[in-house]
Amino acid sequence: MSTSNVEVNFFDPATNDCPYHAYKTLRDEAPVWLDPRTGMYVITRYEDVRAVVMDTTNFVNQRQASRVATPEMIERQKKIIDLYKEKGWVPAPTLAGRDDPNHKEMRGLFDHAFRPSRIKQLDPVVEGVARELFAKFVDEGQCDWVRAFAVPLPLIVIGVQMGANQEDIWQIKAWTDAWVQRLGMMQTEEEALWSTEMEIEAQHYFQPIFERLRVEPNDTLLSDLVNTVIPEWGRTLTDEELHAEMMADTFVGGSETSTNALSGGIMLLTQHPDQWAKLKSNPDKYVPQLVEEAVRLEGPVQGLFRTAAADVEMHGVTIPKGAIVNIRYAAANRDERHFENPDALDLDRSNSRSQIGFGAGVHFCLGAPLARRELAIGFRAFVDNIDDFELIDPNMSFEYQKNFALRALTSLPIRFTKAT
Ligand code: HEM
Repeated sequence: MSTSNVEVNFFDPATNDCPYHAYKTLRDEAPVWLDPRTGMYVITRYEDVRAVVMDTTNFVNQRQASRVATPEMIERQKKIIDLYKEKGWVPAPTLAGRDDPNHKEMRGLFDHAFRPSRIKQLDPVVEGVARELFAKFVDEGQCDWVRAFAVPLPLIVIGVQMGANQEDIWQIKAWTDAWVQRLGMMQTEEEALWSTEMEIEAQHYFQPIFERLRVEPNDTLLSDLVNTVIPEWGRTLTDEELHAEMMADTFVGGSETSTNALSGGIMLLTQHPDQWAKLKSNPDKYVPQLVEEAVRLEGPVQGLFRTAAADVEMHGVTIPKGAIVNIRYAAANRDERHFENPDALDLDRSNSRSQIGFGAGVHFCLGAPLARRELAIGFRAFVDNIDDFELIDPNMSFEYQKNFALRALTSLPIRFTKAT
């Protein structure tokens, strides 16, 4: 199957805002597509995405010197490393950037910190934050849902667990936004260096917190991450490892993603009034379904990366050893080969929980149980506080941050009637 004559450009703003037509074209015409702009092999069908993430022999996470890196990319990376060395800490590979057995050893520490019984204990905390946030805007009859609720809820929850002060969350949001922009691969060199400076600022905010927790442990998730010894390594995490985790895996992994699913879920309801009526009629039954459908249809993580560890043939295309593979969970989640009427929000969908927006296999999202609770509590608060709602501007076009990997709605202004 030829992959060369398919016209898709993920860097085109219109495709960034609505990539679903492009995903369908790729699924149907080039399920393994060599993207001429990035040199990556893009995988879009459900079964293929699943096969790639489960095959940790042929597809690895650890970043290797890329065969497609241009001299400019190598030079830019060197400047970024120099900046970390000069002013901060060079982040070590993250959990998501490691392979077994090293990944498994580190994941053990995280699995312990994020154990289900611990996450369950956070329910009252999440509910309390949701209540506080609603109290701030519910009497006004309108809000920008993104800024009023979807951003602060997960950020406060993970922020408090990571030792930050609640009043600092908008500063932390500025740091994580800058980090996300670099991940998004659409920056100039100057912008990438600015993102790095922002990350270094965050490092200096968190370093004293690590140091304090080493002396005075408490019951936060970060205290566990700082103080637990990894048995196989015979030591706790270093500052470089902790800084990498703070940005990539906990703050970005743990807030930007849940934020975008919270925004996406309500945005989808504006387009599907029948499903809103259904949700209102039986929230106990339908809130969990909305959680799965929001992640499926508006996947906060559109696509991540693997490196081919050998030449691998799929659909007649040879992915050469060393190539970067872009696995697009969000395309898989709208694959008509797996989901009937895939573009519709359907709260009665029988296989909604098989959505692959949290990945699968050994790298399955560490935070999925927490994210599912945040989304369920957030959507439930919406149903309980609001009788009816609509977009303030019914003709608004939904805009998303420019990003190759993540999907982030920038605002969602709604008008509503408060529940009595
Ligand atoms: C709706 C919200 C979320 C979505 C859609 C999401 C999605 C994902 C995806 C697709 C992966 C990669 C799986 C793979 O490589 O195949 C992942 C990994 C990860 N996520 Fe999430 N995530 C969410 C929330 C969270 C939260 C709340 C946290 C932490 C507090 C978190 C932490 C992580 C970490 C640490 C990994 C790396 C796991 C590993 O490589 O072992 N995520 N997530």
